[in-house]
Amino acid sequence: MRILVTGGAGYIGSHTCVELLGAGYRVVVVDNLANSNEESLRRVQEITGKGLTFVKADLLDRAALDALFYEHPIDAVIHFAGLKAVGESVYKPLEYYHNNITGTLALCDVMRSHGVKSIVFSSSATVYGDPAQIPITEGCPKGEIMSPYGRTKGMLEQILTDLHTADPGWQVMLLRYFNPIGAHISGRIGEDPKGIPNNLVPYVSQVAVGKLEKLGIFGHDYPTPDGTCIRDYIHVVDLAVGHVKALGKMMGAVPKAGAVADSIKGGIGTSDRDAVGGVWVYNLGTGVGYSVLDVIHAYETANNIKIPYEFKPRRAGDVPVCYSDATKARDELGWVATHTLEDMCRDSYRWQSANPRGYEG
Ligand SMILES: NC(=O)c1ccc[n+]([C@@H]2O[C@H](COP(=O)([O-])OP(=O)(O)OC[C@H]3O[C@@H](n4cnc5c(N)ncnc54)[C@H](O)[C@@H]3O)[C@@H](O)[C@H]2O)c1
Repeated sequence: MRILVTGGAGYIGSHTCVELLGAGYRVVVVDNLANSNEESLRRVQEITGKGLTFVKADLLDRAALDALFYEHPIDAVIHFAGLKAVGESVYKPLEYYHNNITGTLALCDVMRSHGVKSIVFSSSATVYGDPAQIPITEGCPKGEIMSPYGRTKGMLEQILTDLHTADPGWQVMLLRYFNPIGAHISGRIGEDPKGIPNNLVPYVSQVAVGKLEKLGIFGHDYPTPDGTCIRDYIHVVDLAVGHVKALGKMMGAVPKAGAVADSIKGGIGTSDRDAVGGVWVYNLGTGVGYSVLDVIHAYETANNIKIPYEFKPRRAGDVPVCYSDATKARDELGWVATHTLEDMCRDSYRWQSANPRGYEG
C-alpha cells in the first residue's frame, strides 16, 4: 500500500515515515519545507534502510498535487502539513486559515478527483478548549478554541466530517494529539524548530545545550498541585505508531468487493447507509498529566543536568490542566503509549546534544 504523507519532512511526519516504512508501507512525502529540512527524510531512509519518494511542493499548488497523484498511485493520505505555531497564528490569522484550510481543501479535491478517499488528519487536543472534563474523552464537547491555529483544526474536523456526510465512501480518521515530545532513539531525527521554540521541551533542550540561557515558566499560580500547567506529554514515536495503527484500522474498513465492512463499528457518523466509510475520532495521549515542573525535574534526572528557570506571568490562552482519557484508542486500535516521561526527556536531549543546530549541522 502506498501512503502519501503530507508534511512528512516535519517533526511528527518524519517519525511516522519511519514507522510506516518499518510496517511495510511505501511512502511518498509531499512537503514545501516551510518548517522543515529535507535532511530529515534522508535520515529516515538511513534509519530504516528503506527508500521513500519526496516531492517538494506546496499543498496550495493544485497542479503539482495533481501531477503527484498521476505519477504515484496513492491508497491513503496522512495529512500533517500545516502551520502550527499557536502564538503566531494570533497575529497571522489569514496565513494560518489560508495555508491550513485552503491547503486541505485543495488536497481533498485532488484526492477526490483521483478516487482516493481515505485520510488520517492531524488534529489536536486544542479542539477541546478549556476542557469540560478531565481526563478528556473523545465524547467531551468541543470547547471554545483559543487561537486561529486551533480553530483551523476544529474547522477542518468539521469539513472532513461533512465530506463523509456528502459522500459516505470517504474514510476520515481524526487524531487528536496531546503534547508530542521526544525524538527517535537513534538521535538522528527530532524536533527542529525554526527560531525560538514555542513549546516547553524544545526550549528546555536548547537551555540544556547552552543555546538559550534560561527557561521561562508561564504562570505558577494555577490551581494545580505545584501551580504550573499540567499536560499530557507523549513520545513522538508512540504517536507515530498510533498513526500506523489508525491507518490499519481505517484501511481494514475498506470493504472487499461485495462485502460490507464490519470493522467500522465504533466509528462515529457511520450508519447502514455509509457502511463503506466512516469518521473515527481518537485521542492520542498517555492518559497521564505532568506539570511543567515535573517535566523539568524529569529532564534533569534523566540527563544529569541542571535547567535554570524563572517564573513569568501566565500566558493568554493556556488552560491549567489538559490530559487525555486514552482508553478508546487502546480498546479500538490496540494502541497504548509505552514510553515514560524519562524516555521522552532522555531522547530529546540525545537528539539536541547530537544536533545542537538541528538539521543545519
Ligand atoms: N507538534 C505538536 O505539538 C502538535 C500537536 C497537535 C497537532 N499537531 C499537528 O500535527 C501536524 C504536524 O506537526 P509537526 O509538529 O510535525 O509540525 P512541523 O511544522 O514539524 O511539520 C509540518 C510540516 O508541514 C509542512 N507544510 C506546512 N504547510 C505546508 C504546505 N502548504 N504545503 C506543504 N507542506 C507544508 C512544513 O514544511 C512541515 O514540514 C501539524 O498539522 C500540527 O498542527 C502538532
